[in-house]
Amino acid sequence: MSDKLQIVTIDGPSGVGKSTVSRLLAQRLGYTYLDTGAMYRAVAYACKKTGIDPGDEKGVASILENFNIDLQPPAQPDADVRVYLNSEEITRFLRTPEIGMMASKVSTLPVVRKKLTYLQRQIGQQGKIVAEGRDTGTVVFPNASWKFYLDASPEERARRRTEQLEQKGMKVNQASILQQIIKRDRDDSTRSLAPLKPADDAVIIDSSRMSAEDVVKVMLSHITLSK
Ligand code: DC
Repeated sequence: MSDKLQIVTIDGPSGVGKSTVSRLLAQRLGYTYLDTGAMYRAVAYACKKTGIDPGDEKGVASILENFNIDLQPPAQPDADVRVYLNSEEITRFLRTPEIGMMASKVSTLPVVRKKLTYLQRQIGQQGKIVAEGRDTGTVVFPNASWKFYLDASPEERARRRTEQLEQKGMKVNQASILQQIIKRDRDDSTRSLAPLKPADDAVIIDSSRMSAEDVVKVMLSHITLSK
């Protein structure tokens, strides 16, 4: 594996099933699951709490001066990564469509990308992680051993996201989730810094007609082949 790190990266658009697949794959490999989106969501949450506009770079920079984030494994195998910000558990506030849109906005700011990329690399320096996000294969861990890019149609992703939010007891409208997904895809892939795109050496998997288990199987076949 030469200078490559024992890291798996899984990038792709919102609602594509990255979290489920990353969690499952990390369990199978005995690796740590790194949810980079949760870190962007934590910045968005801090903006909401302090009333700072997510587009206000100076204001957001002031949040980052006192930003001690700690990610802990999920309480149950299929739950979200637990997120602590300055010792307060904020996990339950992060998975709303509003925080998702705000996270997409703060993620365009250079000051945010620089800080979170630094923190993610610190977490990944020992290897044995499955990192999930938008730029984990292209920017954060260009030397990862195994890179995947998950894709699925916007309609299928809206359906899955609606189901996921309903399971959490939220009332949502699938048509507006679809609109948000289309907007977030456009914003995330057209921004100038670390835009959403497959790494040149990523394996692209269209999961529109695949279960999470099927996707994990395909990934594992690539991982064992090249180990
Ligand atoms: O994966 P998610 O929906 O939790 O991510 C929320 C937002 O955070 C996403 O719309 C863009 C941003 N993000 C990013 O810019 N880079 C990452 N590596 C992960 C997320």
